[in-house]
Amino acid sequence: MTDFSPDDLADLLAFHLEAGVDVAIGEEPVDRFAESAAAARARAAAFAAGGERGNGAAARPSAQPARPAPRAAAPVAPGGMMAAQPPDVAEMAAREAARSAENLEALRTILEGFDGCPLKRTATRLVFADGNPQARIMFVGEAPGRDEDVQGLPFVGRSGRLLDLMLAAIGLDRTSAYIANVIPWRPPGNRTPTPQETAICLPFIRRQIELADPDILVCLGGPSAQTLLGTKEGITKLRGQVVSYETGQRTIAALATFHPAYLLRTPLGKRLVWRDLLAIEALLAKGGHREGG
Ligand code: URA
Repeated sequence: MTDFSPDDLADLLAFHLEAGVDVAIGEEPVDRFAESAAAARARAAAFAAGGERGNGAAARPSAQPARPAPRAAAPVAPGGMMAAQPPDVAEMAAREAARSAENLEALRTILEGFDGCPLKRTATRLVFADGNPQARIMFVGEAPGRDEDVQGLPFVGRSGRLLDLMLAAIGLDRTSAYIANVIPWRPPGNRTPTPQETAICLPFIRRQIELADPDILVCLGGPSAQTLLGTKEGITKLRGQVVSYETGQRTIAALATFHPAYLLRTPLGKRLVWRDLLAIEALLAKGGHREGG
């Protein structure tokens, strides 16, 4: 390692980045192939030993010690972090923690200290929100990507630039819109969040919406729409329909549209998004639909 010049190291990092290796989850590299080969060898040896004794049951337990202790293999959290909680315990803790937040700043602080979501261990930082929390309209995406993880703000990469253009098309910008994600920590390598991770984060984003109290909620993409609107319907069917969203305090108008990342891959989708943007503009002009508050 000491033979590398700073320029070599920068090139090496750039190479990793371009190859898609953009998350460091441990201090030391772990050879997973060697690990599973050792486990397979141990299973084979245990099976052979069990066979000699005529006792196949030996195979399962004796295969296990061959794996390194979980501590060594487990992702190391920045700053050294907690053991994972069982998901149902984490979900309950999330509900309680979210409920206890009296305002958005308190919610951010609570999330900073919440250790129940495994994604926190691999993310660089919390990505809470951007824009104006007093805005009448709130946009919610799925989860931060690499740029968001680096900057700690949602939608600041390529998708974010397209989102800014979408906002501008209807006279909005980050001073007149509030922006957040269902998941506030970047999933490693931008993988899809698991249903459990989503369930753990859901009470927080629901509380964030309740506290921001927008008139209009816009779900960006299928995962955000399905999670927040509680449906399994695909985004192609969901988009463009104005539905009701219960914040806990009142009913507001909600609408789903395609995610900007989808539009970057599928520019033809912009035609439909244009319609959605006009529907959003019309909702803003008539004040969303306020019921019960
Ligand atoms: N995609 C999202 O869903 N959210 C972001 O913040 C960035 C990209």
